[in-house]
Amino acid sequence: MCGHLALLVLLLIGGPVSAQVDQAVYDNGEKIFKANCGSCHKPDKDMTGPAVKGAKERWEGKGDVHEWIKDSQGYIKSGNAHAKQIFEEHNKIVMPPQALSNEEIDAVLYYADNFAPAGAKKGAEPAPEAAAAKPSSSWQWLVVTGLILLLVLLSLGGVRHQLHNAVREKQGMAPEPAMGTWGRICKWAVQNKGWASAAVLLLVVWALVLLWNWMFNIGVYGGDKVAHYKPSQPIAFDHSLHAGKDNLAINCQYCHSGAEKSKHAGIPSANVCMNCHQAISEGPKTGTAEIAKIYEATGWDPAAMKYTGQQKPLVWNKVHNLPDHVFFSHQQHVAVGKLECQECHGPVDTEMDQVQQWSPLTMAWCLECHNTKEVAVAGSDNGYYQEIHRRMATTPMGQGELRKYLEDEKITVRELGGFECAKCHY
Ligand code: HEC
Ligand code: HEC
Ligand code: HEC
Ligand code: HEC
Ligand code: HEC
Ligand code: HEC
Repeated sequence: MCGHLALLVLLLIGGPVSAQVDQAVYDNGEKIFKANCGSCHKPDKDMTGPAVKGAKERWEGKGDVHEWIKDSQGYIKSGNAHAKQIFEEHNKIVMPPQALSNEEIDAVLYYADNFAPAGAKKGAEPAPEAAAAKPSSSWQWLVVTGLILLLVLLSLGGVRHQLHNAVREKQGMAPEPAMGTWGRICKWAVQNKGWASAAVLLLVVWALVLLWNWMFNIGVYGGDKVAHYKPSQPIAFDHSLHAGKDNLAINCQYCHSGAEKSKHAGIPSANVCMNCHQAISEGPKTGTAEIAKIYEATGWDPAAMKYTGQQKPLVWNKVHNLPDHVFFSHQQHVAVGKLECQECHGPVDTEMDQVQQWSPLTMAWCLECHNTKEVAVAGSDNGYYQEIHRRMATTPMGQGELRKYLEDEKITVRELGGFECAKCHY
């Protein structure tokens, strides 16, 4: 029984290691992919070219995928049937020759095969709770190792007990009854008080770490668990197309006008879309299909060029959702704190054809920024800060914390009260 358990534990330890991704090869592949392939391919979705994921497998036994990538047209001419078939299946769009070595191609294919959606690896700074999760996992390994040792000790105990009884039998005495597992653990604990208390301490600390992580992650999407939550939407609205600098570059607040003056940034009504889409009925990727849904929602008849009065309001699915007990105001952060939307929402304008939850929205995430973010209080033309600065500067030295904060010329959100429970909790 113990042996089986130990084996199971060993298997569990062995499992995740073999499934690990070689980060160096992955990153290299990602770089090459973005530079050479990204304009036509996505790793996991069809675009101009098919999804690259699984290409190596698809070519297995039918041809050399390296030859295809280096010079697809040449490979077709050389008479490879699979190459010809792919070309025809994709409406004979020519994939240009790629000047890459076999090694580089392998890296790209590796990247595509192991692609983690939504750039789980992209954020330059690790999510704060990723750091918090580390101790937990190493603690978990420590505990597992401890358990194995305990199991080994216990089974040794069993063997010793059998030997002991064999000796007693030889001497003509009755065998001692075998102790249950718990009995043996208790006996061992009584005899080894130091080790036993260390083990208990370890378990308690482990439980506390788990509890801590759980508290910081409760009730939220994003973070490690559901990285970059991205619900489906009634219209395939593309942020990178509308807000991207190289594209239409529409200001975020043209559509999210609440951000500067209220708690909520707000989602624009379909009428805002119609400011432009009355005239634009076709897009580069989705043709007329998606824009037609705006017409349906607003009751616009593009043929007659008039509203029919039959509206069908759009219901966008919420991407971000803080628990009800948390207070968050966009105005405080955008108008007062002067933060860019991207600091919290990520590269919406450059990378998101579909908007997604970029930050974990955990308490740890809020506090991490409040702890380090400097606020330009001194010399601010912001009335709110001028008042705070006046109070700081007029508090006599040695009285209260305000003056102390001013000394290092650096004022963080935390020093202004950004760590006070009541500021964020109702
Ligand atoms: C200019 C657009 C373009 C670029 C750039 C491009 N491809 Fe392609 N690729 C295509 C098209 C289109 C096809 C479909 C076959 C065809 O029509 O020739 C294709 C097909 C493929 C296939 C075969 C698909 C399959 O299922 O077997 C692979 C593999 C592939 N490309 C990999 C790459 C890689 C890797 C890069 C970058 C190093 C790259 N492509 C760059 C357009 C492109
Ligand atoms: C042309 C209008 C338009 C512009 C410009 C625009 N958005 Fe949006 N945004 C929308 C619409 C419509 C939705 C709801 C549909 C969706 O989630 O894709 C949305 C959703 C969002 C959401 C998710 C809301 C939720 O449900 O939690 C965020 C965050 C967001 N936008 C940020 C931005 C940022 C940052 C910019 C500027 C870089 C920007 N938007 C520019 C129209 C726009
Ligand atoms: C300021 C003008 C403007 C506003 C406002 C605007 N769009 Fe667009 N939209 C465009 C333009 C221009 C295009 C076509 C771009 C092109 O052809 O390159 C487009 C394209 C699209 C497409 C097709 C995308 C594709 O890849 O095929 C969809 C869908 C779309 N818009 C939805 C919306 C929705 C939904 C809203 C409102 C929330 C909205 N747009 C608001 C200007 C606008
Ligand atoms: C300090 C971080 C932060 C900044 C800066 C920020 N947001 Fe948000 N945003 C959030 C959080 C947190 C939520 C979730 C709020 C909730 O669920 O109550 C959110 C929700 C949203 C939503 C959906 C819900 C709503 O409030 O309407 C939109 C749209 C949005 N943000 C757009 C923007 C835009 C546009 C900007 C820049 C002008 C911006 N945000 C700046 C953190 C931020
Ligand atoms: C990227 C940095 C950043 C993140 C992330 C962030 N904040 Fe802030 N927050 C600020 C800044 C800067 C201010 C300063 C504005 C001011 O002076 O009030 C601020 C101020 C506040 C205030 C007002 C504090 C006061 O003293 O009046 C509240 C409340 C608040 N944030 C809540 C939140 C909540 C809740 C979250 C997480 C959901 C969050 N913030 C995430 C940067 C951030
Ligand atoms: C800057 C904003 C901010 C401050 C300050 C803050 N919290 Fe939070 N807190 C949050 C956010 C956001 C969540 C929801 C996300 C989460 O659970 O991690 C949260 C969640 C919690 C939860 C989990 C509740 C649940 O079960 O969902 C507890 C408990 C909590 N906070 C207690 C506190 C206490 C105690 C303080 C003061 C020491 C405090 N918070 C200060 C933002 C804040």
